[in-house]
Amino acid sequence: MNHITLEQWLAGQNPALAATLGAIMQSCARISDAVALGALVDLHGSADASNTHGEVQKKLDLFADDCLARALAACDHVAAWASEEHDDPTISEDHGNQGEYLVLFDPLDGSSNIEANISVGTIFSVLAHPYRGTTPGDAGFLQPGRKQVAAGYVVYGPSTVLMLSCGQGVSAFTLDHRDGQWRQTRENVQISPQTREFAINSSNQRFWEKPVQRYVAECLAGEAGPRARDFNMRWVASMVAEVHRIFSRGGVFLYPRDTKEPRKAGRLRLMYEAAPMAFLIEQAGGAAVTGTQSLLDMIPDTLHQKVPVILGSREEVELIVRYHADPNENVSSQLFKTRSLFVQPHA
Ligand code: AHG
Ligand code: MN
Ligand code: MN
Repeated sequence: MNHITLEQWLAGQNPALAATLGAIMQSCARISDAVALGALVDLHGSADASNTHGEVQKKLDLFADDCLARALAACDHVAAWASEEHDDPTISEDHGNQGEYLVLFDPLDGSSNIEANISVGTIFSVLAHPYRGTTPGDAGFLQPGRKQVAAGYVVYGPSTVLMLSCGQGVSAFTLDHRDGQWRQTRENVQISPQTREFAINSSNQRFWEKPVQRYVAECLAGEAGPRARDFNMRWVASMVAEVHRIFSRGGVFLYPRDTKEPRKAGRLRLMYEAAPMAFLIEQAGGAAVTGTQSLLDMIPDTLHQKVPVILGSREEVELIVRYHADPNENVSSQLFKTRSLFVQPHA
């Protein structure tokens, strides 16, 4: 493969979008260096602060957030941005009215894993500013995931890899630490429709909804069970790493609705985590749902809303959707929006 640079690849996109993605990727290269240096530059440990979700912020959460904010503030095309780490969006001082885009990001996903030296990542989403010429408010950001202009994530692992989609498939770029360039290492990435691998935090089993209990029990039953084949299980506790594994060899990832904190619909955030990942997964031929609804069709109520997430290899996700649609499974989540895309007669 000819490893064209991200800059060359972006030359084929709309110039304003290319500049916006270029700014995001410059900051991700800086974040990659900081993640690699870690304790050497005093960036391990807690920042002694917490975010709007009540989660303890790590020093690297704040470093990554600041890197992205500075790059977006300097970009002519970004009107405003919203981060998992802040209650409210930030309006660009210089481009708040004229910028074409709104950007959302989870600056560092999986940050509880940093000191254990496990892969972490950055997730981002680019939306068109719907009321260009006016200062954007929260309402401008509350667009369904299907309207994303671009989405991507960077996984800071043994290699630093970007998975990016501008709505025409998914490409992978690896950061070449020798010269600081991102170089394309995969194009038109496809997720295999079948899998024998699932990822879920089993310590939450007692809180899961019935269709998820059934799905996992059937996987665990292996060859002797109704699925008539053995499954493998993984849990990294870093969504970027889980999704990246699915991009490399298929699989299904579940952070379902549960009763652990009944007032919350899930663990993961729609706008900073679920929607951009769902966009990438669907662009690669996979599927991404809440259990009863496509994640990309969800119209967000609030910037920090949490949602159940089930994504990955299409045939497995479709099976889980059918279990949710089965009246015998008595799904509590039927109480909320139930527009299902895959509902078929029971398998
Ligand atoms: P973040 O570090 O941005 O708060 O996100 C962590 C998320 C996600 O990466 C992962 O899938 C999940 O939290 C891990 O949850 P458990 O702690 O239940 O394993
Ligand atoms: Mn996260
Ligand atoms: Mn985070």
